[in-house]
Amino acid sequence: MKMPGSLTLPQTDAATNKAAGKSDRKEEPGFFLERLQSPTAHDIAAIGDLWYKSGLTGPGYDAGRDLATCLNSGRGSVILARSAKDATIIGTIMAGHDGESGWVHYLAVANDARGTGLGSGLLALAEDILAATGLAVNKVTVTDPTVHDFYRKLGYEIVETVPRTNTQISEIGTDFVVMRKRLKS
Ligand SMILES: CC(C)(COP(=O)(O)OP(=O)(O)OC[C@H]1O[C@@H](n2cnc3c(N)ncnc32)[C@H](O)[C@@H]1OP(=O)(O)O)[C@@H](O)C(=O)NCCC(=O)NCCS
Repeated sequence: MKMPGSLTLPQTDAATNKAAGKSDRKEEPGFFLERLQSPTAHDIAAIGDLWYKSGLTGPGYDAGRDLATCLNSGRGSVILARSAKDATIIGTIMAGHDGESGWVHYLAVANDARGTGLGSGLLALAEDILAATGLAVNKVTVTDPTVHDFYRKLGYEIVETVPRTNTQISEIGTDFVVMRKRLKS
């Protein structure tokens, strides 16, 4: 798939127009999307902060290492949502694959931008990238059970439950599930 260096999508498209027609939603926050290529130290710190505040990582976690691994792999994309007002990073998702299945990681939306369709918009964009790469399935590991319904609403089902005691994947450090969705070809 041809990915432009800087991906800027219409704001309502990025949120898959989910906000349209939903009178109970907050107003659209105003953001633009960007494909991360060469993060600055400031970007890495802001992303690490968002992941930590979203409960995805612990204190002092090295976000830069995971970003570099993805960006240097040749098979991954990191998409950011930035506030249109001041370019603050308000959303992230990482999409890659293992040769068989797509995988998304680090889907996070800043607290005050939640409930506007940004999370599902970022996920839909990651799915489109993976489908365009030729992948038929996308998977995600979910450690927080309160997020299962978010993914269920978007077409995912639990295909595996992995206890913390699984020593092969012990670095995750907690119970988690693998959820899967068949992508449109
Ligand atoms: C999960 C998360 C990304 C959702 O982002 P968001 O921008 O609020 O999501 P959306 O506004 O696109 O919501 C889409 C739908 O899912 C629902 N939803 C959102 N979060 C939910 C949750 N935790 N549980 C159940 N449903 C949820 C919304 O109500 C909405 O439903 P609707 O279409 O019927 O109105 C965000 O809450 C977040 O960053 N959480 C912390 C990090 C995290 O757990 N990420 C997942 C890692 S696997």
